[in-house]
Amino acid sequence: MLTPWEDRYAFRTKKMGSSVIRELLKFTQKPEIISFGGGLPAPEVFPLKEFRRACEVVLKEQGPQALQYGTTEGFLPLREIIAGNVARYAIEVAPENILITSGSQQALDFIGRLFINRGDRVLVESPTYLGALQAWNAYGAEYVSVPLDENGMKTDELEKALRSGVKFIYVLPNFQNPTGATLSLERRLKLIELADRYGVPIVEDDPYGKLRYEGEHIRTILDLDSEYHTHNGENYSGNVIYLSTYSKLLAPGLRLGWVIAPQEVIRKLVMAKQAADLHTATLNQYIAHEIARTGFVDQHVHTIRDTYKERRDIMLETMTEYFPSEVKWTHPKGGMFLWGIMPKNLDAAEVLKVAIERNVAFVPGFAFHATGGGNHTMRLNFSYCDPAKIQEGIYRLGTVLKEQIVKK
Ligand SMILES: Cc1ncc(COP(=O)(O)O)c(C=O)c1O
Repeated sequence: MLTPWEDRYAFRTKKMGSSVIRELLKFTQKPEIISFGGGLPAPEVFPLKEFRRACEVVLKEQGPQALQYGTTEGFLPLREIIAGNVARYAIEVAPENILITSGSQQALDFIGRLFINRGDRVLVESPTYLGALQAWNAYGAEYVSVPLDENGMKTDELEKALRSGVKFIYVLPNFQNPTGATLSLERRLKLIELADRYGVPIVEDDPYGKLRYEGEHIRTILDLDSEYHTHNGENYSGNVIYLSTYSKLLAPGLRLGWVIAPQEVIRKLVMAKQAADLHTATLNQYIAHEIARTGFVDQHVHTIRDTYKERRDIMLETMTEYFPSEVKWTHPKGGMFLWGIMPKNLDAAEVLKVAIERNVAFVPGFAFHATGGGNHTMRLNFSYCDPAKIQEGIYRLGTVLKEQIVKK
């Protein structure tokens, strides 16, 4: 008799769960459903013409190299461009401080591989990015969570959490997924100081930093930390592992992200990457390099900001019009998400079932809570649907919410 597959898996496989979000949103693929559930960029802003041009140039001028195996660290000219972009806003880093990954999701997995022993605690925001929890659950991570408000992680609660002994702090400082919150400068400084005092590294995940629709850019934790540790020269050697990606600036289908970290951490990450996939797709790196080389990304980010700002504003306005007054929500200054808070006696998973019957979907907030809670919260994405769909979807959701509140 065949042994059940369930009995054959490693311990870590048993720890892997399929994403709750994917399970819940399986039903939202139908064309009649207006979904605020996914975290997708607007397909209208994908720069197809520029990709076509870059593909042609790359294949014509550097075809054989672009189709060959590459170095694990990533295509050097692309790393130089990334280093140059960092230097425009912040510190100078050397290409040796940079590893190109297959999206920042892969970097999250490698960080788990490098740092997490079974049972180790990771300090996360509550709520936090679900994909990081999925990556780290496989390594047997436990979590300590610190709540956040509109100014990001509540750093006055950080010290208590740090005393419980954590391996690293995971923070999403800009337009956080899922809440849209941004960590204030004051709290960034406090975070750096406490992390240093407790000897704990910070993982700064920053896919949305350039997608700001109002207010001033706030310096990255990487940048502030390098000042704190009096960083000299190009070789960053501070306390931060910084992640970013082209997924929201060009296209997620490229699967191109990067890590900036002290060289000794990069060397370990390179070993993890060698074992995982040798290197990030060479062709994609050449294409991204050809696009970034001309300064196109800087221009293109204006188009993305204009499009998403309009969508955010329409969602906020329509929510004000149609949502019941008992429901509260965040006003993100950038990014792709906002966060709704219903009265505590409503369960977002139950509300979602009714919403799907009315052809509108969102993600229930409990999935983003590493240590439980958040049953009455929801994440709404405003980047993917066009303005007319946003208005119709919010109207439908508002109707469902009013009915649910009356019923309870
Ligand atoms: C906070 C955060 N980190 C990482 C990722 C993964 O991005 P990538 O497409 O670069 O793997 C996402 C994607 O939505 C995200 O929101």
